[in-house]
Amino acid sequence: MHQDFFPPGIAVLTGAGISKESGIDTFRDADGLWNRVNLEEVATLEAWHRDKKKVLDFYNETRSMFRAAGIGPNEAHRALARLEREYDGEVTIITQNIDLLHEQAGSKRVIHMHGRDGEIRCMACKTVFSSDYDLTPASICPHCNSVGELRPNIVWFGEMPIHLEEIYEALERCGLFLAIGTSGEVYPAAGFVLHVRRHAPRARTVELNLEPTDNKSLFHEHIYGPATETVPPYVTRVLTQGWR
Ligand code: APR
Repeated sequence: MHQDFFPPGIAVLTGAGISKESGIDTFRDADGLWNRVNLEEVATLEAWHRDKKKVLDFYNETRSMFRAAGIGPNEAHRALARLEREYDGEVTIITQNIDLLHEQAGSKRVIHMHGRDGEIRCMACKTVFSSDYDLTPASICPHCNSVGELRPNIVWFGEMPIHLEEIYEALERCGLFLAIGTSGEVYPAAGFVLHVRRHAPRARTVELNLEPTDNKSLFHEHIYGPATETVPPYVTRVLTQGWR
């Protein structure tokens, strides 16, 4: 077990639900992406090998949603940025989202465990680089000149999420764990609350979601409602009264 840090860290896991009110679709809600698109056709390495155009077009469409007029951080993203600014201890945001709305709201310590928009990886030379261009199967790697080997640097189903070591360290030294806007259906993120209960047994765990999730019983406290309405008052409460 890790030693206690004072003030204790706050680890915040976020999912698609936090960006919903910014105008970005979630995955598993009734109007979610995976109810419209077969994820096995667009979000696996096998799918990319089978039909690069289909996978890249899907990703380009998703990115265009992030860039649509009026899309920006909402009050929940801003409240978490405020928490990081005003809390004396460490605040780590662990997000499954590939959008950059936490950063745009002002959060500094953000870990994108499923990758992030605007990063591309070459499957031939393995270079990862920043680029805002849409990819096509004819795109050429600027590092090794391979054609058709570029893919978004995001984690597809069947691939290992990134930065896990750093994430587990943050979980093990936290005194408060929040899960915001995530269905708790995708591992390893879905297992983080159990990891906190086991490895940081004094930590308080709080779920802030539109509705109860399957992980409900592992949280000490549940706050249900849209993130823009639940997260700002919760952050104010933590900053003024603590979390016990
Ligand atoms: N405020 C709070 N929660 C919301 C809101 C809202 N306005 N709208 C929806 N939610 C909740 C839903 O009730 C649901 O429990 O957010 C959750 C979204 O769940 P998913 O769509 O499953 O998204 P997420 O948990 O982030 O998915 C995990 O799955 O396909 C992958 O890689 C993708 O990172 C993603 C991962």
